[in-house]
Amino acid sequence: MRRSPPQPRRSDKSRRTVSIVATGSYVPERILTNRELEQIVDTTDEWIRTRTGIRERRIAAPDEATSDMATKAALAAMKQAAVKAEEIDLIIVATVTPDMFFPATACWVQKKLGAVGAACFDVSAACSGYLYAMEIAQQFISTHVYNVVLIIGADKLSSIVNWSDRNTCVLFGDGAGAAILRNRGASHGVVATHMGSDGEFAEILFMPGGGSRYPITSENIGQQLNTIKMQGKETYKQAVTAMSDAADRALEAAGLRYDDIACVIPHQANMRIIEAIAHRMNLPMEKFYVNLEKYGNTSAAAVAIALDEAHRSGRFKIGDYILLVVFGGGLTWASSVIQW
Ligand code: UT7
Repeated sequence: MRRSPPQPRRSDKSRRTVSIVATGSYVPERILTNRELEQIVDTTDEWIRTRTGIRERRIAAPDEATSDMATKAALAAMKQAAVKAEEIDLIIVATVTPDMFFPATACWVQKKLGAVGAACFDVSAACSGYLYAMEIAQQFISTHVYNVVLIIGADKLSSIVNWSDRNTCVLFGDGAGAAILRNRGASHGVVATHMGSDGEFAEILFMPGGGSRYPITSENIGQQLNTIKMQGKETYKQAVTAMSDAADRALEAAGLRYDDIACVIPHQANMRIIEAIAHRMNLPMEKFYVNLEKYGNTSAAAVAIALDEAHRSGRFKIGDYILLVVFGGGLTWASSVIQW
């Protein structure tokens, strides 16, 4: 049985004053449809739709790096919050496809924004990275270290996909989502978060090459080690269990029940995974915000883009409780309850 570290009870009122004051997102223009993928690998639109729910995904331009997408999402959030670049104290980018090993993608975003006063770093927690970044931001703000924190989930998975592997290449896409967190002094905000990881399963979803274990050599590239490897079925199984468990724990820490939740924003990997967790939560699918048919799995960006779209389309209102729940390579998982 999976063990998780004990999580502190997080329903104290002081914590609720850290709010998401704005969200933003960006997806590249280029749409890659399932039909087009039929020309690239041995697959069908029907297989992809019925097994995953995905119809199309966005693909970044060759000269469009993760920080370019991240900056566009950040600018949208900053505009909404009327926050100037100089006011940002901390920039955290969650990504597994950084522009380069170093400097951090967050530093490139800082340069593009002109956020001269910010501290910057990246978080590597794969698809769970955005909620990890949110929790870090929450901690920095509630301890009064920083006031204004920009978090971004951004990934250019098209740059690490093996385009001859039908098991993976049909699943992923590119994009970015951002949020600005600050202490708004209101009695609502991030109520509770649960995070967990299990390195025992590191090799069911990973990209082995390019780092210090298997550096960039022509031999390693020849073996496609610089692309995503995934054991789909095992990942699926782990995703359902870990996401349901994480959501239970976040809700418990918040002192709430599923009935109290107005909108669930899950990681956008597979429609069947979302339906399975909805079933476990005993919640109708109408409560779930799903956009994976348009974007596929965009890793750290997925829940960030979904939150922005759900927010802008009025899926919840001020005072509503929303539940975010994510899962990804590591394995990693997390869930946050937010009172909007
Ligand atoms: O973001 C991190 C989290 N990621 C996830 O949560 C992804 C989790 N996994 C999944 O979503 C699913 O496991 C997949 C969508 C990846 C695969 O669905 P599945 O129902 O588990 O299929 P499978 O891997 O068991 O494959 C079933 C069959 C196989 O053929 P055989 O061996 O039964 O003849 C595959 O070769 O489907 C075949 N297949 C395909 N056929 C057409 C695999 N990919 C494709 C494809 N087109 N693209």
